[in-house]
Amino acid sequence: MPLVCRPWRLWHRATRFIIGSRKASWRRYILLAAFVVILIIIYLLIESYPRSIMRKVVADLSVAVLVRNHPPESVFRCGGDGGGKVRGPTGNATFHPHLPPPRSPENKLRDDPKVLVFTETQYSKTGKDIANILVANRINYKTEVLGRSLPGLTNLSRGKYGAVIFENFDRYLQLDPWNRELLDKYLKDYSVGMVGFMPVREDTRVGTKMKGLPLYIHTNMALKNVSLNSDNPLLHLTRAGGTIVGPVLNSDWTTFTIEDPTYIPIEWAYPSLTDFSEERQNTVVLDQGQLDGIPRVLFGANLEFWLHRLLFLDALSYLSLGRIPLALDRYILVDIDDIFVARKGIRMTTDDVMALLESQRRLQEMVPGWRFNLGFSGKYYQRGYPEENDGDKMLLDHVEDFWWFGHMWGHTQPHELTQDELEIQMQLNKEFAINHDIPTDSGYSIAPHHSGVYPVHEPLYTAWKKVWNVRVTSSEEYPHLYPARLRRGFIHRNIMVLPRLTCGLFTHTVFIDKYPGGRKVLDDSIHGGELFQSIVYNPISIYMTHLSNYGNDRLALYTFESVVKFVKCWTNLKLQTVPPLQLAEQYFHRFPDEADPIWGNPCADHRHMQIWAKEKSCDQLPKFLVIGPQKTGTTALYTFLAMHPAILANYPSPETFEEVQFFNGKNYYKGIDWYMKFFPVPANSSAKFLFEKSATYFEGDVVPRRVRALLPAAKLVITIISPSKRAYSWYHHMRAHSDHTALLYSFHQVITASDTAPRAVRSLRNKCLVPGMYARHIERWLNHFPSSQINIIDGEELRSDPVYVMNDLQRFLGIQPFYNYTEHLRFDKRKGFFCQVVGEDRTKCLGRGKGRIYPSMNESDVKYLKEFYQPYNIALEKLLTKLDYPVPSWLEEDLQ
Ligand code: A3P
Repeated sequence: MPLVCRPWRLWHRATRFIIGSRKASWRRYILLAAFVVILIIIYLLIESYPRSIMRKVVADLSVAVLVRNHPPESVFRCGGDGGGKVRGPTGNATFHPHLPPPRSPENKLRDDPKVLVFTETQYSKTGKDIANILVANRINYKTEVLGRSLPGLTNLSRGKYGAVIFENFDRYLQLDPWNRELLDKYLKDYSVGMVGFMPVREDTRVGTKMKGLPLYIHTNMALKNVSLNSDNPLLHLTRAGGTIVGPVLNSDWTTFTIEDPTYIPIEWAYPSLTDFSEERQNTVVLDQGQLDGIPRVLFGANLEFWLHRLLFLDALSYLSLGRIPLALDRYILVDIDDIFVARKGIRMTTDDVMALLESQRRLQEMVPGWRFNLGFSGKYYQRGYPEENDGDKMLLDHVEDFWWFGHMWGHTQPHELTQDELEIQMQLNKEFAINHDIPTDSGYSIAPHHSGVYPVHEPLYTAWKKVWNVRVTSSEEYPHLYPARLRRGFIHRNIMVLPRLTCGLFTHTVFIDKYPGGRKVLDDSIHGGELFQSIVYNPISIYMTHLSNYGNDRLALYTFESVVKFVKCWTNLKLQTVPPLQLAEQYFHRFPDEADPIWGNPCADHRHMQIWAKEKSCDQLPKFLVIGPQKTGTTALYTFLAMHPAILANYPSPETFEEVQFFNGKNYYKGIDWYMKFFPVPANSSAKFLFEKSATYFEGDVVPRRVRALLPAAKLVITIISPSKRAYSWYHHMRAHSDHTALLYSFHQVITASDTAPRAVRSLRNKCLVPGMYARHIERWLNHFPSSQINIIDGEELRSDPVYVMNDLQRFLGIQPFYNYTEHLRFDKRKGFFCQVVGEDRTKCLGRGKGRIYPSMNESDVKYLKEFYQPYNIALEKLLTKLDYPVPSWLEEDLQ
């Protein structure tokens, strides 16, 4: 039997089946040729015929592809005033502008007060929902699992919390008298209110009296037809949009019967087993605090129900007297990222373009300034079926009706391109724009797949600035795609990066009946779900959509018209659209703290790895850092470490006295590509342990957080000597560097300088004194790193017995092979310090700047500093003991 490949054998059998003979091989060849010709004809037909004809052909053949159903229409109608009088910005009755309750804040809260959340456990569902909503709304909070004692509520007589939440309101009612009194007093003194959620109960209670409150509760209620009482002072963000017809999610709601006129129902519903005529049940109530001075909002069910999420935000604002602010302005911008990029058959026709323009006009009536923002890759223009190509042309006929931004010419991912390639690609796209009268001055652009935006590919930023003068971009990837509520913005090299939100539409979401999970998933997202909430929670929302979402079933038009109507129905939010540049300015005006980026570790996120240049590797980042502080022997430590064959120090930086000083200063803004240049590419180095020493990292406020984000597994080495001695050494260091202030002022004048002293003196004073507050700084590092990653070295021991210290350090760092420092370090009598052995009787010591000779400190200064550092030294002693370190002899002396 001849050796024939499998397809051929199949063909052989098939033709034999049709022809019925083994021998008629010439007929077999004719059949094969005819089959190939038919395939070519079908292909040519598909390519050349208008889509409508092909669609008919395809439909006739019952091949389910290009068939378009009737696009869904947004038919949502707002239910009106919810049974009471309502007026929001678009309504027509009385709008309550969130009247403050009759309280006045006598005692002051801290600026930007937090919310205190008492949760059942760290993992409880409602507790997590509460935390997620607070994070999404950028409200600071602290969670506390209720124990025997309450957390500290004040700091230097200022209140820490603007509202208190009980995930389970029963826990508040069951507080022991001492804690209850303490908490109530705080709430009254600082005019702070409380939100409470009724727990789900095993038993069914009918009309049980609530302890100490004029309320009766009914539990395990199955309810339907929820609506809001529009006549109450709580509604600010929330608008009484009508009745939510149908049963509620769970049948375990608690309802309230009110026994006092100062309690106001906020939300109500009807028992689901009866009809509308049955007595309505209060499901959320407001206690205005007139009976005991503590206002409360009580929820009869948790936050799974979307309307409760709105009321929850309103409650926090109301109960904190607006000190937890709740702005109503919402900016919303929709990008159509790839206006010419989609395969044939799912692109836009002229009908689709007309529909887009119509929808834009309707949206403009609801959202002032609404315009779709179209991103183009010119290479794909006119790449559809003839009627789709007409759609492309029609878009350009209406060029002035939209905003435009340049994408990449060929939709290539920037991280795969070099600087030159990027510029060429952008230039091509720009020429396309100029040739087609597309505006090129929006200052906005985005990158395919977010590539190059984050993690940053510097050539992209350079090319954007050079070719397009880009000032704004947007990405879903910073700091990570998920969870979406944590996405934030940042500014890099003067380009503002906005967090981009997902609306649930992707290139492949084309037909409503093929929507992942079914149409209900999309509708739920619009009607109170994820999409709706993203507008509520984010003052500035920029959404990504694609060409395919505007052809076919035009899902984007349906989605945005529907969600805007829903937002206007159920909230008092003021929606508007502005161009990207204004949007970004608004964003960073509102969230100035976000301007500073926090560079994360690309290797910790597989999506980031996919859009990080192939030649980059996290092995080019240090494994450990010597973080200081200055003048404690860090240079000696650095030099001794660098002697080790398995350890490699950073290349010296000419700018910052050899230290890289990345995490603490302006260098951080140069990005991680800049930082990585200080370390060898792994392929070119056999050293396994890269490290750097920057002695100013120790006391930098932002440094631990930054290091944690980029080098979460890094080990950290700290050296400490007597803080007084350190201060004095620093002062002489500055004099040796001819620092004008240090030469002009005595040590005594510097360390005793008051806050009214000249700025330069205060600055020198701080640099002398602040790093020596060791405990404070070490605690800050411990907030970000476990103690197992931190090694604290006694600098005096390093000086007197470096071999012992280096051996210990090798063990801590887990470095192999073990390096025998005994043979490589020797005490040099002339220098008075240990130095590196470089020959039989030759040593290489540190330069003149290390181990300086200067007069001893005055007794009075010694005394002054001893007193100054006493509280910090006490804390240090406690901390070292807690961390299992021996107390250095200098510390014992300082504390005597
Ligand atoms: P002085 O110059 O005041 O004596 P840093 O490198 O962190 O700036 O610290 C400098 C200090 O390191 C010096 O301060 C010196 O006391 C100390 N030191 C410890 N071991 C040393 C060594 N082997 N050679 C030189 N200086 C050393």
